[in-house]
Amino acid sequence: MASIRFDGVTKRYKDGTLAVDDLRLDIPDGEFLILVGPSGCGKTTALRMLAGLEEISEGEIVLGDRVINDVEPGDRDVAMIFQNYALFPHMTVYDNMAFPLRMRRVAKKEVAEGVRAAAQLLGLGELLRRRPNQLSGGQRQRVAMGRAIVRQPAAFLMDEPLSNLDAKLRTQMRGELARMHRRLGTTTLYVTHDQTEAMTLGSRVAVMRNGIVQQVGAPQELYRNPANAFVARFIGSPPMNVMRGALEDGRLRVTGQEDGAGVDVGGRWPGQTREVLVGIRPEDWRLGAEPAPGEALTLRGEVEVVEELGAETIVYFRHAAAAVDVAGEDDGIGETFAARSEGGGRLPAPGDRVAFHASASALHVFDAGTGEAVAAPLHAASPAA
Ligand SMILES: Nc1ncnc2c1ncn2[C@@H]1O[C@H](COP(=O)(O)OP(=O)(O)O)[C@@H](O)[C@H]1O
Ligand SMILES: [Mg+2]
Repeated sequence: MASIRFDGVTKRYKDGTLAVDDLRLDIPDGEFLILVGPSGCGKTTALRMLAGLEEISEGEIVLGDRVINDVEPGDRDVAMIFQNYALFPHMTVYDNMAFPLRMRRVAKKEVAEGVRAAAQLLGLGELLRRRPNQLSGGQRQRVAMGRAIVRQPAAFLMDEPLSNLDAKLRTQMRGELARMHRRLGTTTLYVTHDQTEAMTLGSRVAVMRNGIVQQVGAPQELYRNPANAFVARFIGSPPMNVMRGALEDGRLRVTGQEDGAGVDVGGRWPGQTREVLVGIRPEDWRLGAEPAPGEALTLRGEVEVVEELGAETIVYFRHAAAAVDVAGEDDGIGETFAARSEGGGRLPAPGDRVAFHASASALHVFDAGTGEAVAAPLHAASPAA
């Protein structure tokens, strides 16, 4: 086992594409770290540089206590697991899993023991004589993991390993991966574009965009204190509602809000005057005729869609305040907001005009130009009396 460090790692492809830009990431021995971001943001490139499949343009990658920039892929002692399994179709499950050990000329008895242990861990014991085309997608992915496990590498590198599985199986495999990591404790760098996967699987998550890491933190830290509007919108589903507004010396004005006096933000952001983006998580809206004490912001919107999901209901509503294009990410939200409630009470119907209320403490504020969170982390601030 070993720690992994990216120290100012940059990748510029021959055609000039800057795929990874000054990546700095410290993954302690035994950690399961998730690198998450939209398609094309540089995740696979980062992983391939670590595996030795792609040259590093600048910076250093350190595995354990050695710089591995110039170490051959086969000598790096990392095992990569891909989305498309990459199994040998003509080999049995047993032979697929034994392959990396045989390549290393491991004694036959040890090969058998290694394969048996991995097969047991992954529930593949009954399938060792089958070929990949006789397996389901989930079983194939388990074999691919088994093949990585038998090598007992210093680190696992996983590139969207669950993307080819259906939703139910993906959830199940997430659980198995977590269990496997608890058992083996092998340092893992796991890449995905799926924020749900990132939130449920990683002890820490690094959010990447355009080759640049935006924020690294525990899932709840990213959710509660996003460093910028991109992280705020990327983490969480439905995404955070974002509208335009302005801070004017301690008061917050939201564009399109009916009360022209603006929101008393209770002593936060003192002395700040600037154009901002104001964010609210869907669960921080409350539906109701009138604001309750302490609720500072009210929007009256028209209900578009009501999704009853059992434990919770999501009400989508239109409001002119919605910021369509947040920090350059046109994610097709249009002018629709989402409000989440945990059932109970009378639900509105599409077409109804309804009031949505939020308290000042639920608001996230980002600079309208840079998208960076303004001033102190929101939830660390003590609410003013
Ligand atoms: N071999 C290559 N040559 C040039 N550009 C590439 C190459 N591989 C990937 N890219 C570009 O680098 C960027 C990052 O790609 P990639 O690492 O595959 O992102 P991700 O895995 O996050 O989807 C993208 O813009 C992609 O088009
Ligand atoms: Mg990729």
